[in-house]
Amino acid sequence: MKILVTGGAGFIGSHTVVELTNAGYEPVIIDNFNNSEKTVLKGLRRILKRPVKYYEKDCNDVKALEQICKKENIEGVIHFAAYKAVGESVEKPLKYYENNIGSTLKVLEVMLKLGIKNLVFSSSCTVYGQPDEIPVTEDTPRKPAASPYGNTKTICEDILRDTITAGNPLKIIALRYFNPIGAHPSANIGELPRGVPSNLVPFITQTAIGIRQKLTVFGNDYNTSDGTNVRDFIHVVDLAKAHVSALKLLATQQDNYYNVFNVGTGKGNTVLEIIKAFEKVNKLKLNYEIGPRRPGDVEKIYGSVEKSEKVMGWKTEKTLEDSVRDAWRWEKKIAKNKK
Ligand code: WQD
Repeated sequence: MKILVTGGAGFIGSHTVVELTNAGYEPVIIDNFNNSEKTVLKGLRRILKRPVKYYEKDCNDVKALEQICKKENIEGVIHFAAYKAVGESVEKPLKYYENNIGSTLKVLEVMLKLGIKNLVFSSSCTVYGQPDEIPVTEDTPRKPAASPYGNTKTICEDILRDTITAGNPLKIIALRYFNPIGAHPSANIGELPRGVPSNLVPFITQTAIGIRQKLTVFGNDYNTSDGTNVRDFIHVVDLAKAHVSALKLLATQQDNYYNVFNVGTGKGNTVLEIIKAFEKVNKLKLNYEIGPRRPGDVEKIYGSVEKSEKVMGWKTEKTLEDSVRDAWRWEKKIAKNKK
């Protein structure tokens, strides 16, 4: 079965291309490389021992989208392509609404026109805002997102749901990601943040390798075990495998189907626990200090993954130690390749 992977050269997209291939699917990447590197294609070839088909196109280009889906006889789509920098979305909301929502509308338009039924959508735990209770389940009421980025995910989920409510013959799953970290154990692909990383783990590994002088922990006066924020950090390979499980579930469903699943570990870790795990596993001391809180940060969130396990037959297999070990191995590989 040929699967179109929009944003397939990105962090989660590339790891999903590996797991799709391992599961016997044939992924076809469409990526405009606006926030990803062509080197990812080389890394994929090293892992898969063969080239992955790709099109350097923008999935807002409906004509291109339709041509590719027809030519490749696409039977399913995984829609990753989106801008995802929370901070930037606050400064440039229209860029985020136009691209993240626009591209989803165009993917749906082409799927309906060509009779492609299966769609897995990349959503985010950010739709929960600061939940009143944790762990959050898929029935936890969504809250106004803390950023335009998060709001695009909420709006896209509503678009998908309403498309199904209207009776369209589609089968759609939205996966709400928690915090993806780590890299493929082969160190051939991993996270490639552009500029100064806003996410925690790439900032940790860049500090450890010497690119950044020091990590600032954004606040230790929260109401948590050690005062730092709690998140659900999931290994990106486990997250990638959830997309294969989602496609398998869609294959068993009728033509008018929408469902939502949390994709996390089901447990929370504090920022300091991540730092300590990174230091212990990789036998090094990280240079960090406690700084002021970062505006917009949610104090505590992690997900219940019972539904994903029961209905989708998926749960995480990797540990936090695997994640911080693979993240460090990847950062060292990047440094080696730069030499
Ligand atoms: C995690 C924790 C920070 C950097 C965002 C998006 C989410 C998803 C993942 C796209 C927080 C702390 C961080 C640093 C720190 N993105 N931190 N020092 O904010 O949970 O989620 O990225 O899908 O949608 O909202 O991730 O990695 O930025 O922060 O102390 O230099 O690490 O305060 O508590 P976040 P993050």
